[in-house]
Amino acid sequence: MSWIDVKAHEELARVREAREMGVYPYFREFETGGLHTTIAGKPIVNFSSNDYLGLTNHAKVKEAAHEAVDRFACGLSSSRVQATTVAHVELERRLAKWFGYEKALLFTTGYQAMVGTIVSLADKDVTLALDNLSHACILDGTFLAAGVPTRQPEVRFFNHNSVKSLDRVLRTRERKNALVLVEGIYSLDGDTAKLAEIVEVCAAHEAVLVVDDAHGTGTLGARGTGLVEELDLGGKVAVLVSTFSKTFGGIGGILLGTTEVVEHVQHQARSFLFSASLPVPIVAAASTILDMLEADGPAMVADLREKAAYARGRLIAMGFDLGHSNTHIMPVMCKDETKTLLMHLALLEFGVLMVPITYPAVKKGEERLRVNITRGHSREDIDRALDLLEKFGKQFGVIGDTHPVQK
Ligand SMILES: Cc1ncc(COP(=O)(O)O)c(C=O)c1O
Repeated sequence: MSWIDVKAHEELARVREAREMGVYPYFREFETGGLHTTIAGKPIVNFSSNDYLGLTNHAKVKEAAHEAVDRFACGLSSSRVQATTVAHVELERRLAKWFGYEKALLFTTGYQAMVGTIVSLADKDVTLALDNLSHACILDGTFLAAGVPTRQPEVRFFNHNSVKSLDRVLRTRERKNALVLVEGIYSLDGDTAKLAEIVEVCAAHEAVLVVDDAHGTGTLGARGTGLVEELDLGGKVAVLVSTFSKTFGGIGGILLGTTEVVEHVQHQARSFLFSASLPVPIVAAASTILDMLEADGPAMVADLREKAAYARGRLIAMGFDLGHSNTHIMPVMCKDETKTLLMHLALLEFGVLMVPITYPAVKKGEERLRVNITRGHSREDIDRALDLLEKFGKQFGVIGDTHPVQK
């Protein structure tokens, strides 16, 4: 056995233990796509999906992807430098217009879009200011930038969503330029960034703001273009990054900004230049979802909001703690690993998937079930899931079994 086997064995101790006890909750195998699927032959409604508008399995989306397979196959066998198609460029043009930016660039994943953007823009003249609950793509982009010899930016964290803390970081920074990195909606907590105040602080300190709106795209703003639209901040966020892996039904990253900034990243980002081009069937699927958003975005977003408001009202009336959530992402706080795993297993037994989020993904004592309400859930799906949550919440002591706690 080499040291890597020894290391792997040691580090897998927790996974092994969970498997032996039959409570390992991850990598469950879906037998079909969609919010309504099966696991080991059993019907399941997925409440941890990011298919926020329920469009991923729409017949028109699949049809567009099928047609693109006939014309372009599933891959282009190279990176965008030598494998760009008319479909990529046309979608970039349309996305820029829809989001309200000069230019868009498609990456193969949202993760790569953020990593590439940070590494392209950060150098020794730059302080990177990050929210301390940042997504892995922001952290990894930052750590990669910090590790590039001769370019190392200063890296500073500010307290989650604290404008005061951000102000302090920007005021005391050591480098001339500053790049502030935040998310539109924080994916584990479901809370929105205090973007209006953050925009003001950035302006006061001549800092450039980058927003990762992976979870706000398709869910916030009247047309669904995200938090910038929701808060009427058009033109005030220099760089927006988003993804096709949630509302847009597939996989892929989107970078939006001025023509020059986007073209700079396009010629600089190694995660763009040295990774294969987004397959055209995926481009076609996203493009079909964009057609739907252009035609019906406001009605679809309103539908999602109505369902989310209904679920939130019921969950709170039952006495569940939803943490800081103010969106359709509603973590059901169980605050204990065993309770979280038991809730997950009991719900799954009754056909409801709510993935447990435990340490180290969240701090000890902040364990929760990931609950995302989507437009693709029917009222019956939601009612059934909430009834089960209430039943097991009481059974496992997550909520009291007497009177509800109103918030
Ligand atoms: C906030 C945030 N940013 C970026 C990403 C990465 O997106 P993708 O799945 O396209 O790589 C995710 C997905 O988990 C996310 O939650």
